[in-house]
Amino acid sequence: MAKLAKKQQPKQKNEEDVRILISRSRLQRRITEMAREIRKDFPNEPLHLVGVLKGAVFFLTDLGQQIPGDVSFDFIAVSSYGVGTHSSGQVRLTRDLDSSIEGKTVIIVEDILDTGMTLQYLLRIFDQRKPKCLRVAVLLDKPERRIAAVQADYVGFTIPNEFVVGYGLDYAERYRNLPDVGVLTLPTVATNAAKVG
Ligand code: IMP
Ligand code: MG
Repeated sequence: MAKLAKKQQPKQKNEEDVRILISRSRLQRRITEMAREIRKDFPNEPLHLVGVLKGAVFFLTDLGQQIPGDVSFDFIAVSSYGVGTHSSGQVRLTRDLDSSIEGKTVIIVEDILDTGMTLQYLLRIFDQRKPKCLRVAVLLDKPERRIAAVQADYVGFTIPNEFVVGYGLDYAERYRNLPDVGVLTLPTVATNAAKVG
């Protein structure tokens, strides 16, 4: 029997894919600079870093290690995203801080500033708790998407309006473990389904 020529599999173009946007080395270089800026602004003060779970975990640990002197950590968790790539706009506190921030110099450490709804919510509840000083450090800023009138004091990278994953950022809890930040492309069908949620 004549051998059938193997059919070439067409290259799947419509599949989930991550394209690197910011490499791990660029992330580390910028985070070191941010740590310097922060310490320069508060040369002699104990700094209390509050990481917003879970996206800011790697950013907080890398930033925290680069800030010399007295630094403490706490974590808070909020939810605003479902499983898709679009925020529900509703922010909910899902885990509160372990200790009081009254009288402390607090730096909120966030992965990404998108619509600003999460940060607006956090600034409101933190202000009520009377910190000595309140600042915000975000690794990524997507200013095109802003709805709430908030801004960060320290910004790692300003990025275009694309959905990014990696270095703590997720899509439906996946990709957080990537060491770089990348742009996620979804198959057409899945993208449309995610928009519904
Ligand atoms: P905001 O409330 O719209 O500013 O969104 C803030 C939160 O939404 C971030 O802390 C992230 O958890 C999530 N988020 C926003 N944009 C992205 C993205 O491009 N990739 C992954 N998560 C995102
Ligand atoms: Mg998230």
